Amino acid sequence: MSFSFQHQVALVTGAASGIGLATANAFAHAGAAVAIVDVNAQAARAAAEALVAAGYQAIGLGCDVCDIDQVQAMVKETVATFGRLDAAFNNAGIQNVLAETADASVEDYDRVMSVNLRGVWSCMKFELEHMRRQGSGTIVNCSSLGGLIGGAQRANYHAAKHGVIGLTKSAALEYATRNIRINAVCPGLIWTPMADQMVAAGQGDALAGMVKSIPMGRHGRPEEIADAVLWLSSSTSSYVTGQSISVDGGFVMR
Ligand code: NAI
Repeated sequence: MSFSFQHQVALVTGAASGIGLATANAFAHAGAAVAIVDVNAQAARAAAEALVAAGYQAIGLGCDVCDIDQVQAMVKETVATFGRLDAAFNNAGIQNVLAETADASVEDYDRVMSVNLRGVWSCMKFELEHMRRQGSGTIVNCSSLGGLIGGAQRANYHAAKHGVIGLTKSAALEYATRNIRINAVCPGLIWTPMADQMVAAGQGDALAGMVKSIPMGRHGRPEEIADAVLWLSSSTSSYVTGQSISVDGGFVMR
């Protein structure tokens, strides 16, 4: 699918890797100036430099989405550099340590909530502050199939991803008449470094089993999530807000 984001500015968190990197690259290829934001500042800058070397507009910004001051500074720097903010993809996320709820640690709960839920909230807070003044904008938040169904040993992750959908719907209601649309994307199993980490953590058999239960019979590619994010960020989805779009080969429809 091809979209035009000429003269627009996009911001992607967790953009040094996987789904975020594919989406940042897709925004740049569609003409947007892109802020590539990641806790791994070096990798964010390297991804931006690769785009600039190829003739696109990009900056790489180090930002831990758990730190509200860093989030505020990151949005401010994006706007100071490119003059506006049209599209944000709040994508940074981590996995929980697999554990039954009775065995899970408070540290893991706080870590997962801090990145996957509070991080999305604080990014939205400062993006919306700017978009409200600007009078336009789109936000896509990264939930998961874990935002729609339960998952044994994954309660912390699934709770955070369910929460992302609540934030998305509530903010979408607030801004529906103000030319700001907010949606979520719910990826299924997408092969990224996060999936590699799950294999390294001994979850390879579980992932292989999951692939068998995907109606399309395969895992997804990061670019397939990027396509959905660009659609939700573009004027071709102008009547869509507050939705959580599954891009999962049919996994959660069963
Ligand atoms: P990934 O591990 O390849 O990339 C995640 C990026 O987020 C990394 O560059 C990492 O440095 C960054 N990050 C982590 N903590 C951060 C923080 N505190 N502040 C800023 N950046 C931070 O992962 P992947 O697979 O690309 O995941 C992206 C999003 O998609 C996550 O929210 C994940 O939960 C979600 N997702 C992924 C699925 C998959 O199968 N890969 C399935 C469903 C959802």
